[in-house]
Amino acid sequence: MNKKQVYIETYGCQMNVADSELVLGILNKNGYGLAEDVHSADVVFLNTCSVRDNAEQRIYGRLGNLKTIKDKKPEMVVGILGCMAERLKTNLIEEKKLVDMVVGPDEYRRLPELLDVVYSGGKGIGVKLSRTETYDDIMPYREDGLQAWISVMRGCDKFCTYCVVPFTRGRERSRSLESVVKEVEHLSVKGFKEVSLLGQNVNSYNDKGSDFADLLAAVAAVDRSMRVRFTTSHPQDLSDKLLYTIAENDNLCNYIHLPVQSGSNRILELMNRTYTVEHYLDLIDKARRIIPGVSFSTDIITGFPTETLEDHLMTVDVMEKVRYDGAYMFKYSPREGTKAFRMEDDVDDKEKTKRLQQIIDLQQRISLELNNALIGSTERILVEGFSRKSDKFMAGRTDTNKVAIFPAHEDISEGDYVDVKIDRVTSATLFGEVVNIAEKYRASAV
Ligand code: SAH
Ligand code: SF4
Ligand code: F3S
Repeated sequence: MNKKQVYIETYGCQMNVADSELVLGILNKNGYGLAEDVHSADVVFLNTCSVRDNAEQRIYGRLGNLKTIKDKKPEMVVGILGCMAERLKTNLIEEKKLVDMVVGPDEYRRLPELLDVVYSGGKGIGVKLSRTETYDDIMPYREDGLQAWISVMRGCDKFCTYCVVPFTRGRERSRSLESVVKEVEHLSVKGFKEVSLLGQNVNSYNDKGSDFADLLAAVAAVDRSMRVRFTTSHPQDLSDKLLYTIAENDNLCNYIHLPVQSGSNRILELMNRTYTVEHYLDLIDKARRIIPGVSFSTDIITGFPTETLEDHLMTVDVMEKVRYDGAYMFKYSPREGTKAFRMEDDVDDKEKTKRLQQIIDLQQRISLELNNALIGSTERILVEGFSRKSDKFMAGRTDTNKVAIFPAHEDISEGDYVDVKIDRVTSATLFGEVVNIAEKYRASAV
């Protein structure tokens, strides 16, 4: 019998990207092959996101397309994985007749069994959350490459009032330090050059007394020519120890994603973010003292219930003070079941759009100014391959996560470190000439 072929489309955050690799790992081990595209697949999974309403609308749109394919190929199995499966559960199957399976983030081990249920004429349903599942022992299926995502924690206990994640991903739990280190060793042998450790709030990582700083130090020691990144840090519990660990380890990238969400203490309190703007700004100052040259990015929500123009201007003020290298900015989207859902969504959409556009414009200006200041400096770049626009150019990123473009050369290949002298910038990209092919990895050029 021919192997059944599976295809997964991944939406949402990097956790989902890592989970899709886990799912492929599980299915591959159980005799399923990997399809090139939807059309050649026997099983199609959408690994979904619920964080904002527009994320879910995209999935409904995609299901509409899949229906046309399934009408011609009724034996094709369609499954919803991830956060939307967890949030909407069997409602999805009742509402959308083409959906054969709904499987939430903690039930992926059961996928082979649930597929058997579908092949015997039933529906495959697995939406229980777990307090212990970390998939510690499962080897994700990865294409060879340079960069890998590794989930080191699952779930979230923070319960920010706007956020659906604690409901779709369940309680917080950590993978064992040993299993993470083993996976990184394996990636190093396979030639990977960068790993990103993932968790909704990595600062509360805890494995038998080892905290996140211990984990980072252990991962960094596996292979000093490998860059190590992580996301996300909650501003409440970013420890000094973590900052010193980043400063002491050359291959721990000098880049921290530290979502502020709002610049107004009143709004932060309504969001249950558990820190003040003053605490946040002190933390930024301290990090800059301990890790010279560290760069920051953030997430910001605009138009949270009761946000006034004054609150909005406080957010603008924080952005001006911190001068982030990058920011992910969103309009508030009410999510059923969250605490904020019971507050009136009273900032009208036009006003949200206006405030969002203001902070997007501001961030662009700041990014451009920060990049302009790099003209004339030399940056160490991990070469990721040819640039998207032309194979006369190659692209890579700095330690601080900025994209750099430089002329291709036969002596330079993917996975090398090169020093690039920056001569031109935009708000999103650095351009320059290679001045040195680095023998050995160092975080920055000399
Ligand atoms: N655990 C991470 C990421 C959570 S989701 C963190 O705490 O930062 C990524 C971002 O989506 C959040 O930081 C927040 O800015 C945004 N977000 C979450 N829920 C939202 C909602 N209901 N409406 C708009 N943006 C939201
Ligand atoms: Fe959501 Fe807050 Fe948890 Fe982040 S820390 S996932 S925003 S509840
Ligand atoms: Fe979305 Fe779930 Fe990630 S809601 S942002 S896919 S944790």
